[in-house]
Amino acid sequence: MRNLLLLVLISVCLAVPALSFNRDSNWIQHNRAGKHEIVNFHVALNQRNLDVLESTLLDVSNPESPNYGKYWDMESVLALVAPEQSVVDQVAQFLRNSGCQSIEVHSDFIKASAPVSAVEKMFSVDMFNYKHAHKAGQTLVRSKQTYTLPKEIREHVHIVTGLSELPHLKNGPKAHKLNTKASPSSDPGIVVPATIQGLYGIPTGYNNHKNTSLCLAEFSDDRSYNPKDLNTFASKTGTPLINVVKNVGPFQPTNPDLESTLDVQYGGAIAETAQVWFWTVDGWMFEFSSALAEQYPAPYIVSMSWGWPEPLQCESGIGNCQNGETSEQYVDRVNTEFQKIGLRGITLLAASGDQGAPGDNNPSCNNKNKPISTIFPGASPWVTSVGATMLSAPSSSASGDNSDIPVCGIHHCATSTSELVCSYPAALITTGGGFSDYSPRPSWQSSVVETYLNSGVALPASNFFNSSNRGFPDVSALGHNYYVVAGDQMQVVDGTSCSSPVFGAIVALLNSYRFNNNKSPLGFINPVLYAAAASNNNAFTDITTGDNKCTEACCAKTGYLATKGWDPVTGLGTPNFKGLLAYVQTLQ
Ligand SMILES: *[C@@H]1O[C@H](CO)[C@@H](O)[C@H](O)[C@H]1NC(C)=O
Ligand SMILES: *[C@@H]1O[C@H](CO)[C@@H](O)[C@H](O)[C@H]1NC(C)=O
Repeated sequence: MRNLLLLVLISVCLAVPALSFNRDSNWIQHNRAGKHEIVNFHVALNQRNLDVLESTLLDVSNPESPNYGKYWDMESVLALVAPEQSVVDQVAQFLRNSGCQSIEVHSDFIKASAPVSAVEKMFSVDMFNYKHAHKAGQTLVRSKQTYTLPKEIREHVHIVTGLSELPHLKNGPKAHKLNTKASPSSDPGIVVPATIQGLYGIPTGYNNHKNTSLCLAEFSDDRSYNPKDLNTFASKTGTPLINVVKNVGPFQPTNPDLESTLDVQYGGAIAETAQVWFWTVDGWMFEFSSALAEQYPAPYIVSMSWGWPEPLQCESGIGNCQNGETSEQYVDRVNTEFQKIGLRGITLLAASGDQGAPGDNNPSCNNKNKPISTIFPGASPWVTSVGATMLSAPSSSASGDNSDIPVCGIHHCATSTSELVCSYPAALITTGGGFSDYSPRPSWQSSVVETYLNSGVALPASNFFNSSNRGFPDVSALGHNYYVVAGDQMQVVDGTSCSSPVFGAIVALLNSYRFNNNKSPLGFINPVLYAAAASNNNAFTDITTGDNKCTEACCAKTGYLATKGWDPVTGLGTPNFKGLLAYVQTLQ
């Protein structure tokens, strides 16, 4: 799980629409940016027909609807929501007249670049060079204060990104220190693809349709896996070579990072011969989702092991901040982009966070006023939110023979078949979960979430969470002790970063079944997942042991408990492939 700080600043003295951007205090302001330096930014235009977008998406994703699976093509989706051409032209013309050097006009946003001098005049900002305090060589040109929308285009513009945000660069997933000593008896052993396939009944040598695809999306400074590591991983774990067909965005294969490496190795290994896309994003969720919404052809599944709390506390005295208000605007815009993507039949998945219910607003467990926090995109209703479990230490009921897997001949591989909530201190992370700050509870989950809230289970105090909102995660999968090969080194890692690509790969295999039967992909899959759980198909294993009161470093008093049925710790539970497939086979 990687974090990106979304901190929101608005100007209180100017009557402009609230503006939103990300700030991380690890960025140190240096000298003024050179007047001729080029700044790249995105202008997100106001959209239309958003009520139709939402109701249509819910209709084509509802397994009971005659329109189930009848997705729209990209052109129709963009035609529905894009502003009138005259509006797009007017904003583009304004940008051109204001000194932008390049302008790329899309249907509902404009990518532009302009010298610092033009940007400063247009948006009433002072641009500075920023350097990261802990990451040598990381520099950005950003505004000192929040931007002001020029009055000529104010009524047409939703938000502008790329001017002011200073993204959070944090290390993750969490790697275990490796020791050569025998594992303690409490250690369940390392997880390899065969562990996951065995536990969830995922077939190997699956008859994948050639259109089956899975995309791993990366943000911030994570730009690479090393192709050589993929070969080593395949040979050590006895899995087929991973079929990366497309790299989008900046890619630096010489400097592999753990997040990208984990995502590609486990997404690729579990999705078997699927076409794997690797997409690195300059920017955050808006830049990614607006680009994906109009990408053609596009991958059918996208896993994002990234997130940061929905509303963020303000930091470091840069401007004034009205907590939550403008963050909500950013979240709203990205949720609309996610809906556009869903209506095209693309499945989005996101990790539910590694800091338990306390979340990234309370990693030290000592925030008395706001002891629990949420995550975005992991709390978005329009993604499948994936939490983490771990295996209990092997007991007499242990099963599984891994002796044919090379790495299991050297290291102790997991054999337990019983799962519980992935939590510190047994693990290096605690799975995130709770209730969104902004998004009301969708109907597809209302019955099971209300059952949880009315079950009598101990809940956090009601003023600490919004119980009428979207509960997350939806599902979970193993997230502890994954074996990966990064930079030719063995690493053992923990994180909901493990769980999201694995669940995404399972959806890829289910898509393959549908393609083989000439059906459409599963698309926005949440209504189907909850319907599958309610059917008698044994689609999930309910996880009932544990809670998410801890973080990566400590345990707080407040959090949620896993119980029978859906809970905001492990969602519906972990997948049972045969049961999920049996339900998917009933869909039109
Ligand atoms: C809970 O969230 C809803 C939006 O779903 C919002 O209307 C309501 O004001 C929130 N309640 C509180 C107490 O914040
Ligand atoms: C597979 O992809 C091709 C090319 O995009 C498309 O024409 C075909 O309809 C797809 N098949 C299925 C079953 O989705």
